Parts: sequence; structure tokens; C-alpha cells
Amino acid sequence: MMCAEIDSIKQQIQNLRAEIERHNYQYYTLDAPLIPDAEYDKLFVSLQHLERAYPQFLTEDSPTQRVGATPLKEFTQIKHAIAMLSLNNAFSDSDVEAFDRRVKEALLKDSIEYVAEPKFDGIAVSLRYENGILRTGATRGDGEVGEDITLNLKTIRTIPIVLPQKNYPPLLEVRGEVLMLKADFLALNERQARKGEKIFANPRNAAAGSLRQLDSKITASRQLTFFAYGVGECVDTALPTSTQHSVLNYLLSLGFPVAQEVKVVAGMKGLLSYYQSIGQQRENLPYDIDGVVYKVNALRDQEQLGFVSRAPRFAIAHKFPAQEALTQVLDISVQVGRTGALTPVARLQPVFVGGVTLTNATLHNLDEIIRKDVRVGDTVVVRRAGDVIPEVASVIMEKRPQNALIFQMPPHCPICHSHVVRLIDEAVFRCTGGLFCLAQRKQAILHFSSRRAMNIEGLGEKLVDQMVDQAIVRTPADLYRLGLAALVNLERMAQKSAGNILQAIEKSKQTTLARFIYALGIRNVGETTAKDLAKYLGNLDRLIAIDEIHLQQIPDIGPVVAQSIINFFAESHNREVIEQLRASGVHWAEHEGKLLHADSILPLSGKTFVLTGTLATMSREQAKEKIETLGAKVSNSVSKKTDYVIVGSDPGSKHDKAVSLGVAILNEDELMILLNKVQSVS
Ligand code: IVH
Repeated sequence: MMCAEIDSIKQQIQNLRAEIERHNYQYYTLDAPLIPDAEYDKLFVSLQHLERAYPQFLTEDSPTQRVGATPLKEFTQIKHAIAMLSLNNAFSDSDVEAFDRRVKEALLKDSIEYVAEPKFDGIAVSLRYENGILRTGATRGDGEVGEDITLNLKTIRTIPIVLPQKNYPPLLEVRGEVLMLKADFLALNERQARKGEKIFANPRNAAAGSLRQLDSKITASRQLTFFAYGVGECVDTALPTSTQHSVLNYLLSLGFPVAQEVKVVAGMKGLLSYYQSIGQQRENLPYDIDGVVYKVNALRDQEQLGFVSRAPRFAIAHKFPAQEALTQVLDISVQVGRTGALTPVARLQPVFVGGVTLTNATLHNLDEIIRKDVRVGDTVVVRRAGDVIPEVASVIMEKRPQNALIFQMPPHCPICHSHVVRLIDEAVFRCTGGLFCLAQRKQAILHFSSRRAMNIEGLGEKLVDQMVDQAIVRTPADLYRLGLAALVNLERMAQKSAGNILQAIEKSKQTTLARFIYALGIRNVGETTAKDLAKYLGNLDRLIAIDEIHLQQIPDIGPVVAQSIINFFAESHNREVIEQLRASGVHWAEHEGKLLHADSILPLSGKTFVLTGTLATMSREQAKEKIETLGAKVSNSVSKKTDYVIVGSDPGSKHDKAVSLGVAILNEDELMILLNKVQSVS
């Protein structure tokens, strides 16, 4: 090929990479995509194709390398050029006051300007860019030596692989925190539960577990994100040298995510009001934090203050109150949930944790009680984190009294006395009473009206208890038949509050399909699945009528979830309640669904594949079957209409033909990535 042609291909590859990274930034960092997903996929496949045809141009900094690489045997160690230190902690206002005083005295100033930042509860990492390209990424480790997790960090879409053409220094080390957003954490656990795999205790554990994978493809399949908070080693002068705040703005301009909550504040007053304000926002932030960090803003002052025993004098972490405490288990009782699941709950000696007094903590299920070996009388660590239900984390064995009692599941439901059963393969015991069981009925109503479902404001536990006990409400449909007279007869229900409840019920009639499906409380259908069902099917009648096979064509819906949905709608009682709800005026906008006909739900329908050569992990027959189950056709010959040619080792002339026609060529790994991807599109 002519030199000029080769040059133009190289240029084309470079342009595609820049274009793809620009869209990555728009989509993942700014949350403001410029083009539809399908257009993005096209760019991506074109780049993959060119890189396969011209492997001499494939480089480590290509966005195609974000999907994960060959698994490692072990992590290698990386020595940090500048140690990654930790922060001293302040647990009270007076600790902060002492810090501010020390700073003022050392700098001989009356008032100090600080930058206040959230303290991310994730994993500290260092990213080294040489000439604008991400070369190595490492964990903090012991501060001196960390682990090389470059391949894993490259899979995180909010971490730039190439810095934009700006005046970046020849060597720049960016430091920050890798974390998993709360929403991604909930979705991950929902997926893990469906697949019967490990459930993570909190977003931090999920992020740590995802980042410390020898197989970067696993990391790539998890939604991780990154926030920059500082600079480590840096050669050259492009970096702003005046303030921490300008450093953060500089990092932002290079495409790094920086917390929006960062603020320049003055003196003690500024620090404490920031702490309060972030404390109030904490539950609503998209990520977990365990405090805030204050840093002297002027870099020259930082330098002057320096470090003392492994922590800077110019910064401090102001932690939120501890989320764990020790207390005693007074008793273990069981609570009956919406689906009849019996949850053992520890009744505690009241204890103050993270701003509230706890009297109960969940023990999850019998397996967990056995695993942690919790007994009545034990001294335990209880933990609460964010919106998560407080739990018993562990037992202090040394404090176990002689007469500590082992817990046993009751054979009958404590509420309705129906039999308690444990299904094969299930961790939980269940009451068999169904809606005959008042506990299940109450929970069903509470779930139906909860904030993320029908959002009926003011319909709390006490009220629902009374309504169900007095048989005013038996099913969710009964809520829409309530009148003022029935309500004012209830305890502590004045005319005005009864009116408010009726208004809230009326307001809830206008809802969305996703909320309505979620509100029905179908087993194994959480919020994410409900949203998927609404998105793919578009209307309720299609959901009621759909069969198991078609249901499973919706990404992320497997046999277990499909079966639960079928079972739910097979009950005539459930269909009746839905009809009554619609008749009372509960409504939502319907649409055609993401794909028009049930038959075309398959994610690859309309696409044509051709296979050539020998595949390593499966026979061609098996590959054909996989592709066809996703709706695509597998053909024997390559034409202009072929969408993808899959190439194994020793490919035949089909490969050459694909190259000459410009058809996308994928190897086996890329095929698997594509199949996994279309299976999991949300
Ligand atoms: S600055 C020399 N800023 O907290 C001090 N650290 O206890 C460098 N962390 O391992 C740290 N959010 O991973 C800084 N906004 C923030 C932070 C932050 C979280 C973590 C960091 C470090 C630990 C120190």
C-alpha cells in the first residue's frame, strides 16, 4: 500500500479514537450524550475493525482497550514516587478548631482560606500520565508501595486514557478515589442476586472487589467511577501553582471528574457550615462519603506547613459520627416481610449509632446467624450505613455469657400461624399464609404506596397497621375506595390529616408504568427490572400476556425472574386487583415499547453474521446457536449485507472478502464482548 494511504488510515484511526473518547466523556463524565448508543457502537466497531486490519496501529491507549485484557496471574508492585499519605481525623468541632488554630499559628495569619471537599468512601488510586497518556495506575497499598492495577483502571470510562491536547506536563500523576455510585451498587447487587452470586455489603466493598480482579474483563463489567482530588508527582510547570482550588479546576479541564460539592470557605465558620451542609446532603449524594476534607487553599502555605508523621499538617478529615457501636442482643424475633420471608431481627440494648438510637438490627436469615454465630445474650457490633437497614455485623466472642441462647426458626408464622417452609436453594424461610397473613398484607400495602412505587405521601406503618387490622383495606385497590368517614374513625386521625391522605392517594393515580409494575410487588422484580419491563414492553397488557420465552429476551431477565412474573399474572386474584386499580383511575402513559413486536425484541435481530476459521472456546455450531438465540442470522457467505464476520484461527477466503468489502471483523473475544454487551443493554 502507498505511504499516503497508510498515513490516512493512521489518521482515520486517530480521529476515531478522539471521537470515541469525546463521547465517553460526554456520556460517562458529563452524563450528557451527544449521539444515540447505536451510533456510538458503530464508531467503536469501525475502530475495532481498522485496528484488526492494521495491527501495527493498535496501541494501549485505544478506547478499544477499555473492555479488559487477558487475566493476570498476580498484580505486580509499584513503588510510589511520592508516598501516598493519609489524613489526620477530626471527630468533633473542637478537633477542627484545634486544627485551624495550629494552622493560623504556624502561618501567622488571623483567618485561613480552605478548600472543603467530600471525603469519598472508596479506594485511593494514583494515575500516571506520561506525555498525556495513562501509563500506570496503582492502589495506595501501604502508602509506599501499591499494586499495579493499570488494566483495571483503564476499564473505568471516567478515567481519561489520553489527556486532551492541552498544555499538560510531560509527567503528571493524578490522585483520587475509585468508587461505585449508590445506584450502580444497588443494580449490581440486584444482578448478583438474580444470578445467585455474591452480594456486596456496601458500595465501597463492591468497588474494592471489582478493582482487585486479576481478570480486567470482570472489572469492565462493573460500573466504577473516579473522582480526582489532587496531584502527586508532576514534572514541569503547566500545573497551576497558586491554590488547591485551581489545581482541581485544572484537573477538571483535563477531563477528570471532580466533585461538584468542592467549595472554597473561610475560617472556622466556613468549615463548620460546610460540614453541616454536606451532612444534610449526604443521603442524597450519588456516592457514599464518610466525612469531609479541609485543605489549606494556598499551595505556598501548604508547603510551609509540611507534614508530620505520615500526614499533612495542612489538611484534615472531619469524619461523620461512627456508624458502628457495641451493644447486647436481648432477644431474637422474626419479622414477616411482603413475600412471607421471615427475617430474624435482633432486639438490642438501645445504643446510639451515627446520630440515632437503635433498638433493632437485622440478622438477614438463618444462614447468616449461623455464619456469624449470633446468640441471645451476645455482645455484638451493630452497624448502620446510609439508608441501609442497621445490621448485626459480628459477635465479640470473648464477651459471650455461659447461658447464651441459640436461635431457632419457629415452625409457624408468628402472625398468622401458617406453616413455615424453606424452599430448596433458598436461604429464607417463608410463611405460607400469602395474603391471608396480615403481616404480608400490610407489607404489600406499604410497598405499594412507598416513595419509589406509587409514592402515596403520609401512608405510614401505623396507619396501614390500623387499616389492615380493621379490614378497611385488604388490597391496594381498596386504598382508592377510601372515604373520609372510614379514615376519621382511625386512631390519631383528624379531619385535616385524613383529607391530606385522600389527596395523596388521588395524586398517586397519575403514575408511570415502571412505578406501577414495581408497586405490584412481584417476587424478584425490583425497581431496575420494573424499569426494564416498562421500557421494553411499553404497556401493561403486553406484560400480562407475555410468555416466558419472550420475557427472557429482555436483557437481564433470566428464568427465575421470568417465572415469578408468569406466576404473578397467572393468579386471577392479582389480575382482578389490577383491573380494579385501573377502573379507579390509576393511569400512566403507554408506548410502543423499545422494540415494536414481541418477535423483534431480540437484541440482534436483523443482523447477519458469518463465521470462519476455528474458534478456541467453542465449536462453530455452538457459536451459531449463541448468535441465533439473540436473534441474528448466521450465513455461509460474506456479502455487503453481512454485519459481522467472526474470525477464528486459520480463516478462509471469507476473511479476505470481509476486508475487501469493509465488513466489520471480530475475533472470538470481541464476539463474546458483543454478545455479553447486547445481553446486558439496559
Ligand atoms: S487528600 C495527603 N482528599 O482519604 C493527603 N483524600 O485518610 C491526601 N480521601 O487515602 C489525601 N476523599 O483516599 C484527600 N477529598 C479527598 C479525599 C481523600 C477521600 C481518602 C484518600 C486517603 C484517605 C486519607
